[in-house]
Amino acid sequence: MKRLIGAQLWEITNWLEAEISKAEMGDTVGFVIPNPDKRVDADNGNPQNTPPYHSWKAWSDLAELLYCRMLTPQPLNDNEVLLRYQKLDLSDSFHQSREEDKREKYGTTSRFATIQKNEAPSFLFAFRRALLQARIEARRTILDLGINSGDEFDMIRKLLDSDHWQQMQFIGIDHSPSAIEKAQARFPEENVTFHCHDINHLNELPIPKADLLLSIGTLQSPGIDFKPLFMSLIQNYLTKEGAVILGFPNCRWIDGEMIYGAKAPNYAFPEMSLVIKDIYFCKKYLQQHRFRVTITGKDYLFLTATKIGGR
Ligand SMILES: C[S@@+](CC[C@H](N)C(=O)[O-])C[C@H]1O[C@@H](n2cnc3c(N)ncnc32)[C@H](O)[C@@H]1O
Repeated sequence: MKRLIGAQLWEITNWLEAEISKAEMGDTVGFVIPNPDKRVDADNGNPQNTPPYHSWKAWSDLAELLYCRMLTPQPLNDNEVLLRYQKLDLSDSFHQSREEDKREKYGTTSRFATIQKNEAPSFLFAFRRALLQARIEARRTILDLGINSGDEFDMIRKLLDSDHWQQMQFIGIDHSPSAIEKAQARFPEENVTFHCHDINHLNELPIPKADLLLSIGTLQSPGIDFKPLFMSLIQNYLTKEGAVILGFPNCRWIDGEMIYGAKAPNYAFPEMSLVIKDIYFCKKYLQQHRFRVTITGKDYLFLTATKIGGR
């Protein structure tokens, strides 16, 4: 078994990259590392004597960067641990869906439906921060575009006390019939309404202006003309004092794992130009219309806008 005791990250990375490139999808690569819990304090007087230290976070980051899943570490003795990286199946991703009915690309039988975004800490923290920043408790009408089966409403329901929840009106829109059917079953409450409809034709729906407009991972979808739709939403579907939360994926879901970095059509590696361009467009537009705008998050970037001098 390869021992990486005392090795520096450069050497570790080179060895792992070579081993993983030879492995098949689903195979594991095992190696022995110093137990990170037994960190040796830095020798300030003699820095060369301090062995390289890698935390569990560093090992977990490295697994993600190498498109691997870190399996449960196995202690070999007090000071050494067997670590295993499992190579992810790069073809297993909802991004590569071949669903014939385009509306069902994210339906209940799709690979996307197996993802539990609300269980990913980096998503939960960023979304919760955005909701608090938008003063969710002071809002009355929430319009969610691309609601899918309702996870975003589920998080809001957890965040609010039940009196607040019941006094608010929630409207969710998505063009996937199966996702909307599931959402309706999850939220039978009278104050929650779902429409199975194309976001490009919102004018066909009897929906009121919202004081929180919410959309995660949807406005950049194929078939949506991002900029005109975004501007029309602000002009026609938001109250004067309304707030906006837009979530932009800065990750891909591969073999059940959330991998950092935006998916880019023409690159084999994550590339952020498109997501940064779209976020910056929204930020500028909203600032020109007297909104205060923040951009937060990591694997999902959240643009949150509230009216200057408003609620
Ligand atoms: C990547 S999923 C995001 C779903 C959910 N907001 C989330 O973050 O888990 C995009 C959603 O937008 C929906 N969608 C895409 N284009 C649409 C359109 N033109 N009209 C209505 N819904 C659309 C899809 O069906 C899907 O549920």
